[in-house]
Amino acid sequence: MDTFIQFAYVVSGALFIFGLKQLGSPATARRGNMISSLGMLLAVISALLDQGIVDYQWIVIGVLVGAVIGGAAARLVQMTAMPEMVALFNGFGGMASLLVGWAALNPDAATFTLVTIILSILIGGVTFTGSMIAYGKLSERITSGAVLFNGQQIVNSVIVLGIFGGAVMFCLEPANHLWLYLVIALSLVFGVMAVIPIGGADMPVVISLLNSYSGLAACAAGFAVNNNILIVAGALVGASGIILTQIMCKAMNRSLSNVLFSGFGSGKTETTTVEGEIKPITVEDAYYVLEAASSVAIIPGYGMAVAQAQHVVKELSVLLENNGAEVNFGIHPVAGRMPGHMNVLLAEADVPYDQLLEMDEINPRMETVDVAIVIGANDVVNPAARENEGSPIYGMPVINVDQARTVFVLKRSMASGFAGIENPLFYKDNTRMLFGDAKESIGGLVREFG
Ligand code: TAP
Repeated sequence: MDTFIQFAYVVSGALFIFGLKQLGSPATARRGNMISSLGMLLAVISALLDQGIVDYQWIVIGVLVGAVIGGAAARLVQMTAMPEMVALFNGFGGMASLLVGWAALNPDAATFTLVTIILSILIGGVTFTGSMIAYGKLSERITSGAVLFNGQQIVNSVIVLGIFGGAVMFCLEPANHLWLYLVIALSLVFGVMAVIPIGGADMPVVISLLNSYSGLAACAAGFAVNNNILIVAGALVGASGIILTQIMCKAMNRSLSNVLFSGFGSGKTETTTVEGEIKPITVEDAYYVLEAASSVAIIPGYGMAVAQAQHVVKELSVLLENNGAEVNFGIHPVAGRMPGHMNVLLAEADVPYDQLLEMDEINPRMETVDVAIVIGANDVVNPAARENEGSPIYGMPVINVDQARTVFVLKRSMASGFAGIENPLFYKDNTRMLFGDAKESIGGLVREFG
Protein backbone atom coordinates (compact mmCIF):
# COMPACT_ATOMS: atom_id res chain seq x y z
CA MET A 1 0.00 0.00 0.00
CA ASP A 2 2.76 2.43 0.96
CA THR A 3 4.52 1.92 -2.38
CA PHE A 4 1.25 2.57 -4.18
CA ILE A 5 0.65 5.79 -2.20
CA GLN A 6 4.18 7.10 -2.82
CA PHE A 7 3.80 6.26 -6.51
CA ALA A 8 0.45 8.12 -6.61
CA TYR A 9 2.18 11.12 -5.03
CA VAL A 10 4.81 11.13 -7.76
CA VAL A 11 2.09 10.97 -10.41
CA SER A 12 0.20 13.86 -8.74
CA GLY A 13 3.39 15.93 -8.59
CA ALA A 14 3.99 15.28 -12.29
CA LEU A 15 0.38 16.26 -13.10
CA PHE A 16 0.80 19.52 -11.13
CA ILE A 17 3.97 20.41 -13.03
CA PHE A 18 2.49 19.49 -16.39
CA GLY A 19 -0.70 21.44 -15.56
CA LEU A 20 1.31 24.51 -14.53
CA LYS A 21 3.25 24.38 -17.78
CA GLN A 22 -0.02 24.36 -19.74
CA LEU A 23 -1.34 27.31 -17.75
CA GLY A 24 1.42 29.37 -19.40
CA SER A 25 -0.55 29.87 -22.62
CA PRO A 26 -4.21 30.89 -23.05
CA ALA A 27 -4.62 28.18 -25.70
CA THR A 28 -3.82 25.36 -23.25
CA ALA A 29 -4.75 26.97 -19.91
CA ARG A 30 -8.14 25.28 -19.58
CA ARG A 31 -6.57 21.85 -20.08
CA GLY A 32 -3.80 22.78 -17.64
CA ASN A 33 -6.40 23.56 -15.02
CA MET A 34 -8.12 20.21 -15.55
CA ILE A 35 -4.84 18.29 -15.36
CA SER A 36 -3.81 20.05 -12.15
CA SER A 37 -7.26 19.37 -10.62
CA LEU A 38 -6.88 15.71 -11.49
CA GLY A 39 -3.47 15.74 -9.77
CA MET A 40 -5.10 17.26 -6.69
CA LEU A 41 -7.88 14.66 -6.63
CA LEU A 42 -5.30 11.88 -6.79
CA ALA A 43 -3.24 13.58 -4.07
CA VAL A 44 -6.24 13.95 -1.76
CA ILE A 45 -7.37 10.33 -2.21
CA SER A 46 -3.84 9.05 -1.64
CA ALA A 47 -3.39 11.22 1.46
CA LEU A 48 -6.63 9.84 2.89
CA LEU A 49 -5.28 6.31 2.47
CA ASP A 50 -1.84 7.31 3.67
CA GLN A 51 -2.23 8.45 7.25
CA GLY A 52 -4.20 5.54 8.67
CA ILE A 53 -7.29 7.63 9.26
CA VAL A 54 -9.47 6.20 11.99
CA ASP A 55 -12.69 8.08 11.35
CA TYR A 56 -13.74 9.31 7.92
CA GLN A 57 -17.01 10.78 9.14
CA TRP A 58 -15.73 14.29 9.91
CA ILE A 59 -13.66 14.32 6.76
CA VAL A 60 -16.70 13.54 4.62
CA ILE A 61 -18.73 16.24 6.41
CA GLY A 62 -15.87 18.72 5.90
CA VAL A 63 -15.56 17.84 2.22
CA LEU A 64 -19.30 18.25 1.66
CA VAL A 65 -19.54 21.59 3.48
CA GLY A 66 -16.39 22.88 1.74
CA ALA A 67 -17.56 21.70 -1.69
CA VAL A 68 -20.96 23.37 -1.32
CA ILE A 69 -19.49 26.69 -0.13
CA GLY A 70 -16.63 26.65 -2.67
CA GLY A 71 -18.87 25.59 -5.57
CA ALA A 72 -21.48 28.26 -4.79
CA ALA A 73 -18.85 30.96 -4.30
CA ALA A 74 -17.12 30.12 -7.58
CA ARG A 75 -20.44 30.17 -9.46
CA LEU A 76 -21.73 33.38 -7.89
CA VAL A 77 -18.56 35.47 -7.95
CA GLN A 78 -18.44 38.28 -10.50
CA MET A 79 -15.47 38.07 -12.85
CA THR A 80 -14.34 41.48 -11.57
CA ALA A 81 -14.34 40.20 -8.00
CA MET A 82 -12.08 37.23 -8.80
CA PRO A 83 -8.93 38.75 -7.20
CA GLU A 84 -10.89 39.21 -3.95
CA MET A 85 -11.88 35.57 -4.04
CA VAL A 86 -8.28 34.52 -4.66
CA ALA A 87 -7.29 36.63 -1.64
CA LEU A 88 -9.84 34.78 0.53
CA PHE A 89 -8.64 31.40 -0.75
CA ASN A 90 -5.03 32.29 0.05
CA GLY A 91 -6.09 33.37 3.52
CA PHE A 92 -7.92 30.11 4.19
CA GLY A 93 -4.92 28.18 2.83
CA GLY A 94 -2.72 30.04 5.33
CA MET A 95 -5.14 29.32 8.18
CA ALA A 96 -5.26 25.63 7.20
CA SER A 97 -1.46 25.42 7.39
CA LEU A 98 -1.49 27.16 10.76
CA LEU A 99 -4.02 24.64 12.10
CA VAL A 100 -2.23 21.63 10.57
CA GLY A 101 1.07 22.80 12.08
CA TRP A 102 -0.60 23.32 15.45
CA ALA A 103 -2.30 19.91 15.34
CA ALA A 104 1.02 18.25 14.51
CA LEU A 105 2.55 19.67 17.67
CA ASN A 106 4.23 17.07 19.80
CA PRO A 107 6.67 18.23 22.47
CA ASP A 108 8.81 15.12 21.89
CA ALA A 109 9.29 15.91 18.20
CA ALA A 110 12.77 16.39 16.76
CA THR A 111 14.05 19.97 16.46
CA PHE A 112 13.69 19.90 12.66
CA THR A 113 9.99 18.99 12.98
CA LEU A 114 9.51 21.72 15.59
CA VAL A 115 11.08 24.26 13.21
CA THR A 116 8.75 23.22 10.39
CA ILE A 117 5.75 23.33 12.75
CA ILE A 118 6.50 26.85 13.88
CA LEU A 119 7.22 27.93 10.29
CA SER A 120 3.88 26.63 9.06
CA ILE A 121 2.18 28.39 11.97
CA LEU A 122 3.88 31.74 11.54
CA ILE A 123 3.77 31.91 7.73
CA GLY A 124 0.19 30.62 7.81
CA GLY A 125 -0.80 33.27 10.37
CA VAL A 126 0.76 36.14 8.41
CA THR A 127 -0.87 34.84 5.23
CA PHE A 128 -4.29 34.59 6.87
CA THR A 129 -4.62 38.11 8.25
CA GLY A 130 -2.61 39.66 5.37
CA SER A 131 -5.03 38.08 2.90
CA MET A 132 -8.06 39.22 4.87
CA ILE A 133 -6.78 42.82 4.79
CA ALA A 134 -6.04 42.46 1.05
CA TYR A 135 -9.60 41.19 0.57
CA GLY A 136 -10.99 44.10 2.59
CA LYS A 137 -9.00 46.63 0.59
CA LEU A 138 -9.92 45.19 -2.79
CA SER A 139 -13.61 44.94 -1.96
CA GLU A 140 -13.39 48.42 -0.37
CA ARG A 141 -14.79 47.15 2.90
CA ILE A 142 -11.85 48.97 4.46
CA THR A 143 -9.96 51.96 3.08
CA SER A 144 -8.07 50.94 -0.03
CA GLY A 145 -5.42 53.64 0.48
CA ALA A 146 -2.04 53.04 2.09
CA VAL A 147 -2.23 53.43 5.87
CA LEU A 148 0.97 54.98 7.18
CA PHE A 149 1.81 56.30 10.64
CA ASN A 150 4.85 57.57 12.48
CA GLY A 151 7.09 54.87 13.86
CA GLN A 152 5.47 52.17 11.70
CA GLN A 153 8.83 50.65 10.77
CA ILE A 154 9.85 50.47 14.42
CA VAL A 155 6.58 48.81 15.46
CA ASN A 156 6.96 46.29 12.63
CA SER A 157 10.58 45.57 13.55
CA VAL A 158 9.56 44.91 17.17
CA ILE A 159 6.83 42.51 16.01
CA VAL A 160 9.25 40.65 13.72
CA LEU A 161 11.80 40.38 16.54
CA GLY A 162 9.04 39.11 18.83
CA ILE A 163 8.05 36.44 16.26
CA PHE A 164 11.63 35.24 15.81
CA GLY A 165 12.33 35.32 19.54
CA GLY A 166 9.11 33.41 20.27
CA ALA A 167 9.87 30.88 17.50
CA VAL A 168 13.35 30.18 18.85
CA MET A 169 12.03 29.81 22.40
CA PHE A 170 9.28 27.48 21.12
CA CYS A 171 11.89 25.19 19.57
CA LEU A 172 13.86 25.20 22.83
CA GLU A 173 10.87 24.71 25.12
CA PRO A 174 8.09 23.08 23.05
CA ALA A 175 6.19 22.04 26.15
CA ASN A 176 5.69 25.68 27.15
CA HIS A 177 2.67 26.73 25.09
CA LEU A 178 3.13 30.38 25.92
CA TRP A 179 5.72 30.72 23.14
CA LEU A 180 3.40 29.08 20.66
CA TYR A 181 0.56 31.44 21.53
CA LEU A 182 2.93 34.42 21.33
CA VAL A 183 4.05 33.44 17.82
CA ILE A 184 0.47 32.85 16.67
CA ALA A 185 -0.73 36.21 18.03
CA LEU A 186 2.22 38.20 16.67
CA SER A 187 2.02 36.54 13.22
CA LEU A 188 -1.64 37.43 12.97
CA VAL A 189 -0.85 41.03 13.92
CA PHE A 190 2.09 41.15 11.53
CA GLY A 191 -0.10 40.04 8.59
CA VAL A 192 -2.26 43.12 9.21
CA MET A 193 0.71 45.43 9.69
CA ALA A 194 2.46 44.20 6.55
CA VAL A 195 -0.50 44.84 4.25
CA ILE A 196 -2.07 48.07 5.59
CA PRO A 197 0.76 50.31 4.31
CA ILE A 198 0.25 49.02 0.77
CA GLY A 199 -2.09 50.97 -1.48
CA GLY A 200 -5.11 49.36 -3.15
CA ALA A 201 -3.48 49.74 -6.58
CA ASP A 202 -0.77 47.31 -5.54
CA MET A 203 -3.13 44.70 -4.06
CA PRO A 204 -2.93 42.25 -7.00
CA VAL A 205 0.84 42.06 -6.49
CA VAL A 206 0.37 41.57 -2.76
CA ILE A 207 -2.19 38.83 -3.38
CA SER A 208 0.22 37.02 -5.64
CA LEU A 209 2.92 37.34 -2.96
CA LEU A 210 0.53 36.05 -0.27
CA ASN A 211 -0.30 33.19 -2.60
CA SER A 212 3.38 32.36 -2.61
CA TYR A 213 3.43 32.55 1.22
CA SER A 214 0.44 30.23 1.47
CA GLY A 215 2.46 27.75 -0.61
CA LEU A 216 5.46 28.07 1.69
CA ALA A 217 3.23 27.59 4.73
CA ALA A 218 1.75 24.45 3.16
CA CYS A 219 5.25 23.23 2.31
CA ALA A 220 6.33 23.68 5.94
CA ALA A 221 3.12 21.93 7.09
CA GLY A 222 4.02 19.09 4.70
CA PHE A 223 7.33 18.64 6.55
CA ALA A 224 5.53 18.90 9.90
CA VAL A 225 3.12 16.06 9.10
CA ASN A 226 5.63 14.22 6.94
CA ASN A 227 3.56 14.29 3.75
CA ASN A 228 5.56 14.41 0.51
CA ILE A 229 2.85 15.66 -1.81
CA LEU A 230 2.03 18.58 0.49
CA ILE A 231 5.71 19.52 0.43
CA VAL A 232 5.81 19.34 -3.39
CA ALA A 233 2.49 21.16 -3.95
CA GLY A 234 3.43 23.85 -1.42
CA ALA A 235 6.80 24.39 -3.06
CA LEU A 236 5.16 24.69 -6.50
CA VAL A 237 2.65 27.26 -5.22
CA GLY A 238 5.43 29.13 -3.43
CA ALA A 239 7.62 29.26 -6.53
CA SER A 240 4.90 30.10 -9.05
CA GLY A 241 3.49 32.82 -6.77
CA ILE A 242 6.85 34.52 -6.50
CA ILE A 243 7.43 34.28 -10.28
CA LEU A 244 4.03 35.87 -10.95
CA THR A 245 4.81 38.59 -8.41
CA GLN A 246 8.04 39.35 -10.25
CA ILE A 247 6.27 39.46 -13.63
CA MET A 248 3.76 42.00 -12.29
CA CYS A 249 6.45 44.17 -10.69
CA LYS A 250 8.39 44.15 -13.95
CA ALA A 251 5.29 45.15 -15.92
CA MET A 252 4.89 48.14 -13.61
CA ASN A 253 8.65 48.85 -13.69
CA ARG A 254 8.82 48.67 -9.91
CA SER A 255 10.77 46.57 -7.48
CA LEU A 256 9.04 44.32 -4.98
CA SER A 257 10.43 46.38 -2.10
CA ASN A 258 8.99 49.52 -3.72
CA VAL A 259 5.58 47.83 -3.86
CA LEU A 260 5.80 46.61 -0.26
CA PHE A 261 7.33 49.62 1.46
CA SER A 262 6.82 52.80 -0.58
CA GLY A 263 3.22 53.49 0.49
CA PHE A 264 2.19 53.99 -3.16
CA GLY A 265 -1.28 55.54 -3.27
CA SER A 266 -1.02 57.14 0.18
CA GLY A 267 -2.18 60.43 -1.29
CA LYS A 268 1.20 61.79 -2.40
CA THR A 269 0.55 64.70 -4.71
CA GLU A 270 1.18 63.93 -8.33
CA THR A 271 2.70 66.47 -10.65
CA THR A 272 0.92 65.70 -13.92
CA THR A 273 -0.37 68.91 -15.44
CA VAL A 274 -2.62 68.39 -18.39
CA GLU A 275 -2.81 70.60 -21.43
CA GLY A 276 -5.38 70.64 -24.19
CA GLU A 277 -9.09 70.07 -24.05
CA ILE A 278 -11.50 67.17 -23.96
CA LYS A 279 -13.09 66.42 -27.34
CA PRO A 280 -16.13 64.15 -27.02
CA ILE A 281 -17.36 62.22 -30.06
CA THR A 282 -20.70 60.60 -30.83
CA VAL A 283 -21.20 56.97 -31.84
CA GLU A 284 -22.19 58.04 -35.40
CA ASP A 285 -19.07 60.15 -35.91
CA ALA A 286 -16.88 57.42 -34.44
CA TYR A 287 -18.46 54.98 -36.89
CA TYR A 288 -17.53 57.16 -39.90
CA VAL A 289 -13.89 57.24 -38.79
CA LEU A 290 -13.84 53.47 -38.16
CA GLU A 291 -15.52 52.72 -41.45
CA ALA A 292 -12.62 54.40 -43.28
CA ALA A 293 -9.89 52.79 -41.12
CA SER A 294 -7.65 50.10 -42.58
CA SER A 295 -5.89 49.20 -39.35
CA VAL A 296 -7.46 49.18 -35.89
CA ALA A 297 -5.92 48.34 -32.52
CA ILE A 298 -8.23 47.51 -29.63
CA ILE A 299 -6.79 48.05 -26.16
CA PRO A 300 -9.01 46.62 -23.43
CA GLY A 301 -8.73 47.39 -19.72
CA TYR A 302 -10.58 46.95 -16.47
CA GLY A 303 -13.65 48.84 -17.80
CA MET A 304 -14.24 46.15 -20.43
CA ALA A 305 -14.50 43.64 -17.59
CA VAL A 306 -16.87 45.89 -15.63
CA ALA A 307 -19.09 46.44 -18.67
CA GLN A 308 -18.84 42.74 -19.68
CA ALA A 309 -18.30 44.11 -23.18
CA GLN A 310 -16.07 41.29 -24.50
CA HIS A 311 -18.77 39.70 -26.69
CA VAL A 312 -19.78 42.96 -28.43
CA VAL A 313 -16.09 43.81 -28.78
CA LYS A 314 -15.59 40.55 -30.66
CA GLU A 315 -18.64 41.39 -32.85
CA LEU A 316 -17.17 44.79 -33.65
CA SER A 317 -13.78 43.30 -34.50
CA VAL A 318 -15.41 40.89 -36.97
CA LEU A 319 -17.39 43.73 -38.59
CA LEU A 320 -14.22 45.82 -38.92
CA GLU A 321 -12.40 42.89 -40.51
CA ASN A 322 -15.26 42.28 -42.92
CA ASN A 323 -14.96 45.94 -43.80
CA GLY A 324 -11.33 45.32 -44.83
CA ALA A 325 -9.49 46.55 -41.72
CA GLU A 326 -6.69 44.70 -39.98
CA VAL A 327 -7.69 44.30 -36.32
CA ASN A 328 -5.39 43.48 -33.41
CA PHE A 329 -5.79 43.54 -29.66
CA GLY A 330 -3.06 45.09 -27.52
CA ILE A 331 -2.82 43.32 -24.17
CA HIS A 332 -0.98 44.99 -21.31
CA PRO A 333 0.34 42.53 -18.69
CA VAL A 334 -1.39 44.37 -15.82
CA ALA A 335 -4.56 45.48 -17.62
CA GLY A 336 -7.58 44.71 -15.47
CA ARG A 337 -7.25 43.44 -11.94
CA MET A 338 -5.50 40.10 -12.21
CA PRO A 339 -2.87 38.51 -14.41
CA GLY A 340 -4.34 37.36 -17.71
CA HIS A 341 -7.65 39.14 -17.00
CA MET A 342 -8.06 40.40 -20.56
CA ASN A 343 -6.96 37.10 -22.11
CA VAL A 344 -9.58 35.23 -20.11
CA LEU A 345 -12.38 37.60 -21.14
CA LEU A 346 -11.41 37.67 -24.81
CA ALA A 347 -10.99 33.89 -24.88
CA GLU A 348 -14.52 33.62 -23.46
CA ALA A 349 -15.70 35.67 -26.47
CA ASP A 350 -13.72 33.44 -28.87
CA VAL A 351 -11.30 36.10 -30.06
CA PRO A 352 -8.53 34.16 -31.87
CA TYR A 353 -5.29 34.02 -29.86
CA ASP A 354 -3.19 35.18 -32.81
CA GLN A 355 -5.03 38.51 -32.73
CA LEU A 356 -3.84 39.17 -29.19
CA LEU A 357 -0.56 41.04 -29.25
CA GLU A 358 1.53 41.70 -26.18
CA MET A 359 2.64 45.23 -25.41
CA ASP A 360 6.11 44.74 -26.96
CA GLU A 361 4.55 43.50 -30.19
CA ILE A 362 1.87 46.16 -30.60
CA ASN A 363 3.90 49.23 -29.60
CA PRO A 364 6.27 49.24 -32.63
CA ARG A 365 3.20 49.07 -34.92
CA MET A 366 1.27 51.85 -33.21
CA GLU A 367 2.37 54.63 -35.59
CA THR A 368 0.82 52.74 -38.50
CA VAL A 369 -2.52 52.21 -36.71
CA ASP A 370 -5.40 54.34 -38.01
CA VAL A 371 -7.60 54.04 -34.96
CA ALA A 372 -6.72 52.80 -31.48
CA ILE A 373 -9.89 51.98 -29.51
CA VAL A 374 -9.25 52.09 -25.78
CA ILE A 375 -12.01 50.18 -24.03
CA GLY A 376 -12.14 50.95 -20.32
CA ALA A 377 -8.35 51.09 -20.01
CA ASN A 378 -6.73 54.05 -18.33
CA ASP A 379 -3.45 53.58 -16.42
CA VAL A 380 -2.05 51.09 -18.94
CA VAL A 381 -2.31 53.65 -21.76
CA ASN A 382 -1.23 56.70 -19.74
CA PRO A 383 1.54 58.54 -21.64
CA ALA A 384 2.58 60.29 -18.39
CA ALA A 385 4.38 57.03 -17.57
CA ARG A 386 6.68 57.83 -20.50
CA GLU A 387 6.70 61.62 -20.51
CA ASN A 388 6.41 62.91 -16.97
CA GLU A 389 9.14 62.14 -14.47
CA GLY A 390 6.95 63.47 -11.65
CA SER A 391 4.19 60.95 -12.31
CA PRO A 392 3.76 58.18 -9.70
CA ILE A 393 3.69 55.68 -12.57
CA TYR A 394 6.72 57.16 -14.38
CA GLY A 395 8.76 54.35 -15.95
CA MET A 396 5.88 51.84 -16.11
CA PRO A 397 5.78 50.45 -19.65
CA VAL A 398 2.47 51.39 -21.28
CA ILE A 399 0.75 50.77 -24.60
CA ASN A 400 1.54 53.86 -26.68
CA VAL A 401 -1.95 54.44 -28.09
CA ASP A 402 -1.26 58.17 -28.34
CA GLN A 403 1.05 57.37 -31.28
CA ALA A 404 -1.85 56.05 -33.38
CA ARG A 405 -3.42 58.46 -35.90
CA THR A 406 -6.68 58.65 -33.96
CA VAL A 407 -7.53 57.39 -30.49
CA PHE A 408 -11.03 56.67 -29.22
CA VAL A 409 -11.28 56.37 -25.46
CA LEU A 410 -14.42 54.60 -24.25
CA LYS A 411 -15.26 55.31 -20.62
CA ARG A 412 -18.15 56.69 -18.64
CA SER A 413 -16.64 59.84 -17.17
CA MET A 414 -13.35 61.64 -16.59
CA ALA A 415 -12.73 59.50 -13.49
CA SER A 416 -9.21 58.20 -12.97
CA GLY A 417 -8.13 54.56 -13.10
CA PHE A 418 -6.90 52.27 -10.33
CA ALA A 419 -3.74 54.30 -9.70
CA GLY A 420 -5.91 57.40 -9.11
CA ILE A 421 -3.97 59.72 -11.40
CA GLU A 422 -4.68 62.14 -14.30
CA ASN A 423 -4.30 60.84 -17.83
CA PRO A 424 -2.99 63.40 -20.37
CA LEU A 425 -4.02 61.03 -23.18
CA PHE A 426 -7.62 62.26 -22.86
CA TYR A 427 -6.51 65.80 -23.73
CA LYS A 428 -4.29 65.02 -26.74
CA ASP A 429 -5.15 66.46 -30.18
CA ASN A 430 -5.72 63.04 -31.74
CA THR A 431 -7.92 61.72 -28.89
CA ARG A 432 -11.71 61.63 -28.96
CA MET A 433 -13.70 60.61 -25.88
CA LEU A 434 -16.67 58.31 -26.46
CA PHE A 435 -18.44 58.65 -23.13
CA GLY A 436 -20.77 55.94 -21.84
CA ASP A 437 -20.79 52.34 -20.70
CA ALA A 438 -18.38 50.42 -22.95
CA LYS A 439 -20.92 47.71 -23.80
CA GLU A 440 -23.49 50.29 -24.88
CA SER A 441 -21.01 52.38 -26.87
CA ILE A 442 -19.62 49.35 -28.72
CA GLY A 443 -23.18 48.03 -29.20
CA GLY A 444 -24.01 51.38 -30.83
CA LEU A 445 -21.02 51.05 -33.19
CA VAL A 446 -22.05 47.49 -34.06
CA ARG A 447 -25.56 48.73 -34.93
CA GLU A 448 -24.10 51.47 -37.15
CA PHE A 449 -22.18 48.82 -39.10
CA GLY A 450 -25.23 46.56 -39.32
P1 TAP B 1 -7.81 51.33 -14.87
O1 TAP B 1 -6.63 52.22 -14.99
O2 TAP B 1 -8.21 50.90 -13.52
O3 TAP B 1 -9.01 52.10 -15.58
C1 TAP B 1 -10.23 51.48 -15.82
C2 TAP B 1 -11.14 52.50 -16.46
O4 TAP B 1 -12.30 51.81 -16.88
C3 TAP B 1 -11.56 53.60 -15.54
O5 TAP B 1 -10.90 54.79 -15.83
C4 TAP B 1 -13.09 53.69 -15.71
O6 TAP B 1 -13.45 55.01 -16.08
C5 TAP B 1 -13.35 52.74 -16.88
N1 TAP B 1 -14.61 52.01 -16.71
C6 TAP B 1 -15.08 51.41 -15.61
N2 TAP B 1 -16.28 50.86 -15.85
C7 TAP B 1 -16.56 51.10 -17.15
C8 TAP B 1 -17.66 50.78 -18.00
N3 TAP B 1 -18.72 50.10 -17.56
N4 TAP B 1 -17.61 51.21 -19.28
C9 TAP B 1 -16.56 51.91 -19.73
N5 TAP B 1 -15.50 52.23 -18.98
C10 TAP B 1 -15.50 51.83 -17.70
O7 TAP B 1 -7.64 50.01 -15.75
P2 TAP B 1 -6.41 49.48 -16.58
O8 TAP B 1 -5.99 50.50 -17.60
O9 TAP B 1 -6.83 48.13 -17.03
O10 TAP B 1 -5.22 49.40 -15.55
C11 TAP B 1 -5.15 48.40 -14.55
C12 TAP B 1 -4.67 48.99 -13.24
O11 TAP B 1 -4.63 47.97 -12.25
C13 TAP B 1 -3.28 49.58 -13.33
O12 TAP B 1 -3.16 50.66 -12.46
C14 TAP B 1 -2.43 48.42 -12.85
O13 TAP B 1 -1.15 48.82 -12.37
C15 TAP B 1 -3.30 47.91 -11.73
N6 TAP B 1 -2.85 46.55 -11.44
C16 TAP B 1 -3.26 45.53 -12.18
C17 TAP B 1 -2.72 44.29 -11.96
C18 TAP B 1 -3.11 43.16 -12.82
S1 TAP B 1 -2.34 41.80 -12.58
N7 TAP B 1 -3.98 43.29 -13.77
C19 TAP B 1 -1.78 44.09 -10.98
C20 TAP B 1 -1.38 45.18 -10.21
C21 TAP B 1 -1.92 46.42 -10.45
P3 TAP B 1 -14.94 55.55 -15.79
O14 TAP B 1 -15.21 55.33 -14.35
O15 TAP B 1 -14.89 56.98 -16.20
O16 TAP B 1 -15.85 54.75 -16.68
